[in-house]
Amino acid sequence: MSLMRTKAINADHHLVDTGLKRCLTATDLTLLGIGAIIGAGIFVLTGVAAATKAGPAIALSFVVAGFACAFSALAYAELASTVGGCGSAYGYAYAGLGEIVAWMIGWDLILEYGLATPTVAIGWSGYVGNALTAIGLELPKILLNAPGTPNVEGAIMNLPAFLIITVLSVLLAVGVSTSARFNHTMVFVKLTAIVVFISVAAFNVTPSNWTPFMPFGWEGVMAGGALIFFAYIGFDAVSTAADESINPQRDLPIGILASLIICTIIYILVSGLLTGLVPYKELNVPSPVASALLSIGHKFAAGLIAAGAIAGLTTVMLVLYYGLTRIFLAMARDGLLPPIFSKVNSKTQTPIPVILVSGVFMAFVAGFTPINEVAELVNIGTLAAFVLVCAGVIVLRETHPDLPRPFKTPLSPLFPILGIVFCLYLMFQLPQTTWLRFGIWLLLGLIVYFVYSKGHSELNKVSA
Ligand code: ALA
Repeated sequence: MSLMRTKAINADHHLVDTGLKRCLTATDLTLLGIGAIIGAGIFVLTGVAAATKAGPAIALSFVVAGFACAFSALAYAELASTVGGCGSAYGYAYAGLGEIVAWMIGWDLILEYGLATPTVAIGWSGYVGNALTAIGLELPKILLNAPGTPNVEGAIMNLPAFLIITVLSVLLAVGVSTSARFNHTMVFVKLTAIVVFISVAAFNVTPSNWTPFMPFGWEGVMAGGALIFFAYIGFDAVSTAADESINPQRDLPIGILASLIICTIIYILVSGLLTGLVPYKELNVPSPVASALLSIGHKFAAGLIAAGAIAGLTTVMLVLYYGLTRIFLAMARDGLLPPIFSKVNSKTQTPIPVILVSGVFMAFVAGFTPINEVAELVNIGTLAAFVLVCAGVIVLRETHPDLPRPFKTPLSPLFPILGIVFCLYLMFQLPQTTWLRFGIWLLLGLIVYFVYSKGHSELNKVSA
C-alpha cells in the first residue's frame, strides 16, 4: 500500500503536542471506561431485552455481546498502542486503510456518540422525573417529553434532557481534570448501587423464575445480544483520550481491557439475578432494576439503585460526549471538517468551539425530538466500526509488520477474524429499518466527503 495516500504512522505520534492537557493515568482511563459503559444498557434496556427477546437467558445475551466486544477490545488495544492519537478508530483507519475508509469510520463514530448521548439523556430524564415525583416535586408531562411523543398531548420539550447536556457542555469546556474528577465520583456512586443490588438480590432469588430459561430459543438470545450490545458501548471511547493520557501506549490497553472485563462480570451477575428476582415478563418497564427491588419490598435499595442509575447515565453521557468532541477534533485537524472544529482554547486546554457546537446539537435532539429505537441505530454504527478496527489489525500487520506494538492482540489473525464474525453476526440480528437508516447516514457521509472533505484534506494538499 502506498503511504502517499495514507497518513504515515509515527510511533511517537501519541506524544505530539496537541494543546490538550496530558493528565490521565491508567486508573483514570479504566474509570473513564466504566463511566462510559455502565448506563442505559443495564439500567433500562435489560428489562425490554429480557421481557421481549431473551427471557432469563438474557445473561447469555450478555455473554455473546461480551465476546464480540472482547475481540474488538483487543484490536482497539493493539491499534491504540501502535497508532495512537485521539481519533480512535478513525485515526487507526487513517493510518492503515486510507482516507475514505477513515472518513466513513469517523462519520460512523459521529453517529454512535452523537446519538447515544441524547438517547441516554432521555433515559436520564425519565429517572430524574421519577425521583422528583418521589420527593413531591412533580414536573408536568409536557416538560418531560419532546413534541410529538406518542400519548403525550401538548408536549413542549424534554427539559431535564436538554439541561443535562447543557451542564455537561460547561463541565467539558472547563477542563479535562475537572471532568475526570466528576467522573470518578459518579462512577463510585453507580458501582456502590450495583454492589447493593447484587447483595440484596443474591438473597432474594426465586429459582423458579429462571424456568423456562430460554422462552424465545437461541434466536431470542441472539436478538437480545444485538440489543443489549448497547450496554457495552463506551470502552472504545477510552481510546479517544490518547492525547490526554500520560502514557498512552501502556495505559490505553489497560484502560480498555480492564473496564471491559469489570463491566462484563457486572452485567452477567446483574442480569442473571434480575431475572431470578421477578418473572421476566414483568421487566418491560423504564427502570427494571429499581422496579424489581421495589416489587420484592426493598424500597431503600430501590431508591439507591435509582440514584446509581442517575449517576451512571450521567457519566455515560459525559464520556461519550467527550469522545464525540475528540473525534471531531481529529477529523478537523486532518482538514476533513471545517477548521473551527480543531480550535483548542489555550487557557482551558479544551476544544471549546466543538464542545459548544456538538452540545447545542445534542441538547436540541434530546430536548425536542422524540427518538425511539435509536439504540439499535447506535449499535449498528458501533458494530460496523468494530468490524473495521478488527480488520485494521490484520491489514496493519501485513502492511507495517515492523511497527513497534507495545500491546499485541493474541492469536492474530484468529482473534480479529472472530471479532469480525461476532460483530457481523450481531449486525444481521438488527431489524431492516435499522439497516436502512444506517445506509442513509453512510450515503450522506459520502456526499459530505466528496463535496467538502476531499478538497480540504491536509493529506491531499501534501500529496498533490
Ligand atoms: N453503554 C452505554 C449505556 O449502556 C452507552 O448507556
